Parts: sequence; structure tokens; C-alpha cells
Amino acid sequence: MGKSSESRRVTVPDFAAWKRQGRTIAVLTAYDYASARLLDVSGVDCLLVGDSMATTVQGRETTLPVTLRQMIYHAEMVVRGTKRALVVADLPFLSYHVSPRQAIRSAGRMMKEAGCQAVKLEGGRRMAATIKAVAEAEIPVMGHVGLTPQSIHKLGSYRVQRGEDALREDARAVAEAGAFAVVLECVPASLAAAISAELPIPTIGIGAGPGCDGQVLVFHDMLGLLADGFRPRFARRYAELGEQIKKAAADYVRDVRDRSFPNDDESYR
Ligand code: KIV
Repeated sequence: MGKSSESRRVTVPDFAAWKRQGRTIAVLTAYDYASARLLDVSGVDCLLVGDSMATTVQGRETTLPVTLRQMIYHAEMVVRGTKRALVVADLPFLSYHVSPRQAIRSAGRMMKEAGCQAVKLEGGRRMAATIKAVAEAEIPVMGHVGLTPQSIHKLGSYRVQRGEDALREDARAVAEAGAFAVVLECVPASLAAAISAELPIPTIGIGAGPGCDGQVLVFHDMLGLLADGFRPRFARRYAELGEQIKKAAADYVRDVRDRSFPNDDESYR
């Protein structure tokens, strides 16, 4: 008898089983060792090393500049911080757009050098051949349709995607190409629920309502870590760590200035 997913690492087949069982899947983004450890012991099923790293960690305006080398570096830290969660890493912009062969190479590097268990790439019908090629190279692929941030300059803005037929066809194409799951980003809730009901693979929603098979949030959004910037309506705040960090830092500055830090207990005799 195999171990349950509570005592071993979550696998791609677990995602398929959970879809059949109607068990929802909890996903969060992670970008480094310390946060991955905390999320892993908290029971998060899957950690996504998202290319949102470009905006949340690197402070860039879009996800486009982040490189494959940088993504591998962060994914490696997240893998080291996990024992249970399935680790999926984003393939960044232009690391898979040139050809399916390029995609296999980039995905292969991610698996070999970072040690993650799957990759994610953006795009529906136009990426079907690429998803198929990567999946046939034995690399599990998570798709991503709806709002695809790597296409920001084509889309013009980060808004809800409403082209019902196109979204349905994109999601179907990703599943038929062999993806094991698909992210639905910024899709109306009723459409996301309908797509989730008709697809054989789990849908992971972000800004796509409660009818998806799982949910994903960006670490910095759910913990209130970004001092400023746009706050999407779907990004529920589970903590205000940004405020706590600012207060802790201000308290530290005060204690240094008035010489109350370090005290005798914090000094060697
Ligand atoms: O890069 C990312 O964090 C993502 C999620 C928002 C799904 O792709």
C-alpha cells in the first residue's frame, strides 16, 4: 500500500485523483527557501515558482525580463524548502516560444537543474504543439489560459478575459495536448466553472471564481507584502505582514538610536 499524499510529496497523478474525488487543490507561489518551508509545512498542495517573481521579488513592471537562469535559481531554492508540495516552475517569456525543441530544452533544464516536478507555460491553442512536445519528453506541464501576463503588450492591460468560445477552446486544447492541469486567470466565474466541469484535468483559478478545481494566490498579495501597487479584487489578504515589517523595522531603528538595543542579555560578557 502506497503512502498517502499527507506523508510524501504530492504527485501529478494525485492531481488527477483529486479531480475525480472533487478535492480542491491549494496552490501558492513561492520564490525562496524560507517561505517555501513555511508554506510546505502548512499543507499547501503545490508551490508555483511563478514568473511573477519578476514583479514581486525583482521589482520589475512586467514578467517579461526574467530569465530562465533566474527562474532556475529561485526554483532550486523552493525545491530545497519542500518535502510535500509539488513544485511547478514557470518557463519565462521567450524560453519556449521559438519552437517545441526550445521548450523541451528549457523545461529539461528546469527539471534537471532546479529539481522541480513540473513546468508551467502560458498559451492555449497556439501552444498546443509545444505542450504536447514537452509532455512527450516526460515533463509534466501545467497550462495557463485567460489572462496571460507574458502577452501583456499584445493584450494592452491586465483585465478580465471574456471571449467565451476562445477561452473554452484554449482550455480544451491545453488538456488535449497533455497538460496535467491548467491555470485559469481572470476569467468570469460562470465560464471558469463551466470549463472546470467539462475538462478532464484540474483547473487552478486565480480571479476565476469558486468553481475551479483549485485556487492559486501570489504569496506577496495574500500576505500584504507589497508596500504599494495595484491590489486585484480576487487577492484576499490573509495577513498584513507588510505593516508588521514596517513597524518592526521602525522599532529597531528607534532602539538603535536610543541605545536600548543591544541590552546586557544580547551582549557577550
Ligand atoms: O507567475 C505567477 O505567479 C502565475 C500565477 C499568477 C498563476 O502565473
